[in-house]
Amino acid sequence: MKRTHTCGELTKTDIQQEVTLCGWVQTRRDHGGVVFVDLRDRYGITQVVFDPSHNKNVHSKADKLGREWVLQITGKVSLRPKGMENSKLKTGEIEIMTDHLEILNIAETPPIEIEDNLEAGEDTRLKYRYLDLRRPSMQKKLMFRHEIMHATREYFKQNQFVEIETPILVKTTPGGARVFKTPSRVHPGKFYALPESPQIYKQLLMVAGLDRYFQIPKCLRDEDLRADRQPEFTQIDVEMSFVEEKDIQDMIEGLFKYLFKTVLNKELPTPFSRLTFYDAMSKYGSDKPDLRFGLEFEDVTEIIKHSDFGVFKSAADKNGHVFCLNAKGAGGFSRTELEEIIDIGKRHGLGGVAWMKVNGTVLESNIVKYFSAEVQKQLIEKIKAQDGDLLLFAADEFEKAANGLGQVRLHIGKKLNLIKDEWKFLWVVDFPLYEQVEDKWTARHHIFTHPKDEDLDKLETDPGTVRGKMYDVVLNGWELGGGSIRIHRKDVQARVCQVLGMTYEEAEKTFDFLLNAFKYGAPPHGGIALGLDRTTALLSGIADIREVIAFPRNKAAENPMDGSPQEWNKEFLDDLHMKLDVVKKQ
Ligand code: AMO
Repeated sequence: MKRTHTCGELTKTDIQQEVTLCGWVQTRRDHGGVVFVDLRDRYGITQVVFDPSHNKNVHSKADKLGREWVLQITGKVSLRPKGMENSKLKTGEIEIMTDHLEILNIAETPPIEIEDNLEAGEDTRLKYRYLDLRRPSMQKKLMFRHEIMHATREYFKQNQFVEIETPILVKTTPGGARVFKTPSRVHPGKFYALPESPQIYKQLLMVAGLDRYFQIPKCLRDEDLRADRQPEFTQIDVEMSFVEEKDIQDMIEGLFKYLFKTVLNKELPTPFSRLTFYDAMSKYGSDKPDLRFGLEFEDVTEIIKHSDFGVFKSAADKNGHVFCLNAKGAGGFSRTELEEIIDIGKRHGLGGVAWMKVNGTVLESNIVKYFSAEVQKQLIEKIKAQDGDLLLFAADEFEKAANGLGQVRLHIGKKLNLIKDEWKFLWVVDFPLYEQVEDKWTARHHIFTHPKDEDLDKLETDPGTVRGKMYDVVLNGWELGGGSIRIHRKDVQARVCQVLGMTYEEAEKTFDFLLNAFKYGAPPHGGIALGLDRTTALLSGIADIREVIAFPRNKAAENPMDGSPQEWNKEFLDDLHMKLDVVKKQ
């Protein structure tokens, strides 16, 4: 070892010891001939003194030291003079009187400050990520992530899970997210797909009898990015045999309990609350509702049917819904504030957001004239409207109306400062198995999701009402994970496929290796995957997953540091026996 101690550990108890430290120059200060260097490593900062009256030779070498130079120093641990202590540092009572200095490396002036309160653009931070990661706050985030990964492995091992890796070069199967593809050199003209998740392989491991699988895999999805999405991300992936929904949910609640205890030193109450998809949408306008605040909607379709307001009436007549959100106490919002709300609704698919202010016991708005006194009375009662409230309405088909008003709810929650500082976990369950896209039924999750037993009878007669054995775990408005119980029997699979307009034989062609495997005794099984990046970000109170990923991509899915994605040159193409003919993006 080139050092005896780290820069974060020496204290008063080490006085007079001779020590050797290595690290980077955080700052160099020259105080009337005596040079002070703050030497930094992952563990902390130690003040290193070059005093000509103590050691003239070494002092002369210290004169030229620059920021981020890499040093090895040897000296005696001394008490700092009275009044010079730094109570913010663990090492703040001591300093090292240097007798030996070795410059391990010099450094150019860093393009970003190695300081926690850094002000630099995202692309600059990503271009010099290795410098960005030298900052203690960033190192803390990576260490926190490491703690979560470590505790996750501990937990699953304690529960008889086996950690198994699955392949990265695979075959595409339809459904799921858009995948990246990569050409094969050995098989000219053929491609591998990169897995968007280990889904099929973990199911095969259940067929193989492994019973309890977990993995912390990289998943790759060629999709548009947001603050909670990256093209490369990491999951905590789980599959279990001989289980029902609650068994998986209990296991995952146990994991979060363990993580809270070991990583945050907090007790997490379980079981988590549960909301059906229908209730989550009709009360909060989201399948990942933030329950840290109320502002629940009311479905006022039945009341509104008796109004003369065309927009609401036509939505109601077309089997749609009218939802109302009572923004308590927001009756004083200005026209600009109302415009902002309407704009949010429009950006999220609504034709607009109607509003009424409550003045005493009277409703006021440019549309109130369309509502009879009786309808107004019923509305006021249903939504418990009081003086000073603001009522916001969205009308459309169920999911569209709910989702649009759900976005407005989030805005109001923030604007009125209603969001409490707490952890609100919940399970969203009973998702519809199918959704209708242009007159055709498509699988909401994937075609292997098991229908609820009690809905099996409706598969052929009323597929829109069939619920799946599906569940999402949600924390503070973020979907942390999702999973399902899978179909393991051919007869059920054939019926589910038929609704999708596909015969079992057609499904077999596409998912050949999985359905083939199922012929040989597939156990009942199910699983879930949690987003590790999202879990780490939320548990450390950060709203952007890039902050907890060592080398993330920017919003355009580029890596400003390594320059990927890169142009394909002739050499690459020759190697792959390929010619490139790029069709311009529309
Ligand atoms: P799903 O697609 O819902 O399920 O993904 C599970 C969890 O992975 C995280 N996640 C992402 N995180 C960051 N960037 C992304 N682009 C991204 N996409 C997804 C989310 C999400 O909840 N195989 C199924 C699971 C199963 O059925 O067992 C699956 O992948 O936190």
